[in-house]
Amino acid sequence: MTTQNSQIVRSVPLIKASSNVVTGSGHGRNMGAILIDSGRLSTGNAEQIMVFQRENGVRFGEAGRALGLLTDDDVRFALSVQFHYSYIPSGSSLSHELVAAYQPDSLAVEHLRMLRSQLMLRWFNNSMERKGLSVVSAGSGDGRSYIAANLAIVFSQLGERTLLIDADMRAPSQHRLFSLGKRAGLSDVLAGRAGSEAVVGIGALPNLSVLTAGAIPPNPQELLGRQSFSKLLLALGEDFDVIIMDTPPASACADAHTVAVRTGAALIVARQDRSSMSQLAQFTHSLREFGVTLVGSVLNDA
Ligand SMILES: Nc1ncnc2c1ncn2[C@@H]1O[C@H](COP(=O)(O)OP(=O)(O)OP(=O)(O)O)[C@@H](O)[C@H]1O
Ligand SMILES: [Mg+2]
Repeated sequence: MTTQNSQIVRSVPLIKASSNVVTGSGHGRNMGAILIDSGRLSTGNAEQIMVFQRENGVRFGEAGRALGLLTDDDVRFALSVQFHYSYIPSGSSLSHELVAAYQPDSLAVEHLRMLRSQLMLRWFNNSMERKGLSVVSAGSGDGRSYIAANLAIVFSQLGERTLLIDADMRAPSQHRLFSLGKRAGLSDVLAGRAGSEAVVGIGALPNLSVLTAGAIPPNPQELLGRQSFSKLLLALGEDFDVIIMDTPPASACADAHTVAVRTGAALIVARQDRSSMSQLAQFTHSLREFGVTLVGSVLNDA
């Protein structure tokens, strides 16, 4: 994934596993200490790992894995504590497409954090008018849902109270990604059949809540056009710092435009070798005409 407008992307330090000694306390604790404290590793095994580490010049996690004394899960757990990330055990029901939760130290997630920095600079400033962002694209399968979900996670990891709304009421995805099953969601709230209880906190990911699309309605465009949608966003803005909206493909219906107008800002996604340049140009032009601020673009090269 490549973020455009790279001149304003600030560099974010890469996450590294770099523990050497089994000592230390507080946030600076090293991997060995964290694993011993959590009961995942005995002191004797930690010492064995350190000997191997010294002899082979490898990192603690690598040494532990090579000796069969640590699992990938142990290493991810320790990294999550060291770097204040949420830890999702590998048996979790959350989709593995949520790479920001499962692989926070990967390059793909590093790109998402760079995108987050760009969006913080360009749009989110904690004012009520600048809390929402629509993730939009012209065609289907461009990666809007994937990017919206993972972007929401990296915002939540920064400590921002983050809400992800699935405003794709035609082919929703977020209930599946977050394993939320069939439940009341946006369509039900807009139709007056559900209230704020439809917003659900994601236990494993502190600071992240999701409002799924809800029951697929016959009239998404009409629901999104209602004043109640604007009122809902205003009310949610009281409780959240960042509201990310997943949307349907703009080429298929007017929903994406309607949602983007409501949030005031859009992040445009294009998929390499798939998105048509002319369609994209037409789409960005029409968003601008509607008064939507284009705060960034992502070339999804997956
Ligand atoms: N950057 C990426 N890295 C890995 N997989 C990706 C990436 N972007 C998208 N995908 C995968 O591509 C597929 C389509 O992505 P996604 O569902 O997010 O697209 P979409 O634009 O929301 O599609 P739809 O039009 O169906 O709503 C999914 O299986 C998703 O996991
Ligand atoms: Mg989608």
